[in-house]
Amino acid sequence: MRCPLTKKKNYWFVFLFHLIFLFRFNIFAHAILDPIDFLALQSIRKSLDDLPGSNYFASWDFTSEPCSFGGVYCDGDKVIALNLGDPRAGSPGLTGRIDPAIGKLSALAELTIVPGRVNGSLPQTLFQLKTLRFLAISRNFISGEIPATLGQLRGLRTLDLSFNHITGSVPRSIGTLPALSNVILCHNRLSGTVPSFVSQSLTRLDLKNNNLSGSLSPVSLPPSLQYLSLSSNRLAGPVDRLLSRLNRLNYLDLSVNRFSGCIPGNIFTFPITNLQLQRNQFSGPVHPLDQVTISSVDLSFNRLSGQISPMLSTVQNLYLNNNRFTGSVPTNFVDRLLAASIQTLYLQHNFLTGIEINPTVEIPLSSSLCLQYNCMVPPVDTPCPLNAGTQKTRPTSQCIEWEG
Ligand SMILES: *[C@@H]1O[C@H](CO)[C@@H](O)[C@H](O)[C@H]1NC(C)=O
Ligand SMILES: *[C@@H]1O[C@H](CO)[C@@H](O)[C@H](O)[C@H]1NC(C)=O
Repeated sequence: MRCPLTKKKNYWFVFLFHLIFLFRFNIFAHAILDPIDFLALQSIRKSLDDLPGSNYFASWDFTSEPCSFGGVYCDGDKVIALNLGDPRAGSPGLTGRIDPAIGKLSALAELTIVPGRVNGSLPQTLFQLKTLRFLAISRNFISGEIPATLGQLRGLRTLDLSFNHITGSVPRSIGTLPALSNVILCHNRLSGTVPSFVSQSLTRLDLKNNNLSGSLSPVSLPPSLQYLSLSSNRLAGPVDRLLSRLNRLNYLDLSVNRFSGCIPGNIFTFPITNLQLQRNQFSGPVHPLDQVTISSVDLSFNRLSGQISPMLSTVQNLYLNNNRFTGSVPTNFVDRLLAASIQTLYLQHNFLTGIEINPTVEIPLSSSLCLQYNCMVPPVDTPCPLNAGTQKTRPTSQCIEWEG
């Protein structure tokens, strides 16, 4: 033995390491799972199954300690998190339904179910779990409604029930939850109006692809919001006062609705990369306050009017087609187009009267320009998208009122 001292030290280290390990995983004390939680897990197991190709429940052997099952996390003798289904990408997920016994897991803070074919409605008992902070059951076949008792989950931070078959309205009570941060209910069959949210920590609200209607109050969403998608609903009314307050938005998609009124000039200064306001009923002129740094701006299929602002010439992909813009296209658009700094400039189906461009000039191959169906003969012949039609110029009778 050449270095007994060192050896001894090593043993101590290993022993300490084991101690830390045992404490960390709560198996040091005799933390046998609470029998109520044990029975609840058995019921949950009976109501669900692996889809062919999924092996998730293989580790659920009730003759051993359930806190060691895949996806079951305990604190002392209570289950605190349940992640049902193999979380690895491409796992086929689970089938069956969520047993009401889940409401017996009185310390549950987190429940997730991986994408699969779990159907039926969310058990009412789930909404009695006051400890719940994270609820994510996305891409399954959940139907039925979200109960108003959701408002009892005062600690809830994340609610993700996206890509299911949920009907009914978004309960008003969800808006009263004080700690809410992510609400993802997109791709369901929700109808009714969008509730107001009081949580000052709400960062993400995704309600796209539902059947929501009505209008939004100017104070219905907090300025903490960074991601807002309400696309593909039947929402209406003005949003200018609401939007101009949401200056931390980095994602905004209100496309395919019936929103009206003007587009506030300050939203072009928000840290957004892709602004999607197309296919609504927005009207009036568009006046960005400064040179726009958003790389893609889609305002197509609205009722926007007035001259095109030169502040928009710094946008790489700009869709202003199918509006009521008038006047001449500012020359800085042509400069940027020829420098290949603009990739898309769709101006078709407006009432534009001119663009200063040399008819012999070569538009860079990487750039798309469409000028069709305006109050001018396009000076250059460029390919347009199919839905622009084949008519090069708008009938003169429609243009007279715009001419000086
Ligand atoms: C759930 O799926 C099962 C099996 O496909 C089916 O028998 C049952 O009717 C479904 N239940 C609902 C509520 O859709
Ligand atoms: C959308 O909601 C309205 C009621 O607001 C209802 O009449 C209509 O059937 C719903 N459409 C779909 C596709 O669910």
